[in-house]
Amino acid sequence: MLKLLLLPFSFCAFSLSVGASAQPKANIGNVNPTQNTSSSTACANVHITVVRASTEQPGQGVIGTLATMISGAIPGSTVEAIDYPALLNPCGLSSSNGTTTTTGQLQKYVDSCNKASVVLLGYSQGAHVVGDVMCGGGQATSLGPSTPPIAKKYQDKVVAMIQMGDPRHVAQASFDVGSSQGNGIFPRPANISCNAIAAKIRSYCDSGDSFYDIGDDVQVHLSYTQRL
Ligand SMILES: *[C@@H]1O[C@H](CO)[C@@H](O)[C@H](O)[C@H]1NC(C)=O
Ligand SMILES: *[C@@H]1O[C@H](CO)[C@@H](O)[C@H](O)[C@H]1NC(C)=O
Ligand SMILES: *[C@@H]1O[C@H](CO)[C@@H](O)[C@H](O)[C@H]1NC(C)=O
Repeated sequence: MLKLLLLPFSFCAFSLSVGASAQPKANIGNVNPTQNTSSSTACANVHITVVRASTEQPGQGVIGTLATMISGAIPGSTVEAIDYPALLNPCGLSSSNGTTTTTGQLQKYVDSCNKASVVLLGYSQGAHVVGDVMCGGGQATSLGPSTPPIAKKYQDKVVAMIQMGDPRHVAQASFDVGSSQGNGIFPRPANISCNAIAAKIRSYCDSGDSFYDIGDDVQVHLSYTQRL
């Protein structure tokens, strides 16, 4: 249980850099599930972009719980869910759609709200997508065409990226959190490594996660946000 408490604390560490108006006070015991976190058209100080897991219904998915916690802690922040297929099969088509769509939304947001800081959250295939947006992606035969990282101008606006159960997880990365010792099923190759932006990333993976670590415990994979 203890390591789960790392999450809000890690986020608080990131939040310090997002501006004087941000007052991180993640209150894990008091999340209001009915809080309306839909995106608004006005520019926010902090904009949270959420990419759901494979097979989840369109919307924020389970990682929306985390988005709600963060937006509750940062007055005036907005939340946006990326609309992408989130299919397990064909995974590559789905993740490359997610990468293109998220890149486009991020560019659009930053172009019109260039004082905003952006937080990216991704769960499972969503974690894969946010990683591919920020670090470059595709390229294993099943993962769609090779893509470069988003332009630095946009990358710089992302103050934090939180991944849970990333299939492209690489063991022993400095930004890994959790008990996992193994690689994910599509480990990120060196030329699209996220090491250059390690300071903004926390990637959560527990040992036994069948997608993220070499393991067979789907329950572990599905349980990160339930344990927040
Ligand atoms: C949330 O707010 C948006 C924008 O104001 C609105 O369109 C939507 O209906 C609201 N959703 C809920 C569940 O209240
Ligand atoms: C990506 O998927 C969404 C639906 O999930 C669809 O509306 C959109 O057209 C797709 N985009 C591309 C470029 O295929
Ligand atoms: C990484 O290397 C692969 C294989 O050599 C290449 O196809 C791909 O374009 C490279 N990706 C980037 C972003 O440089």
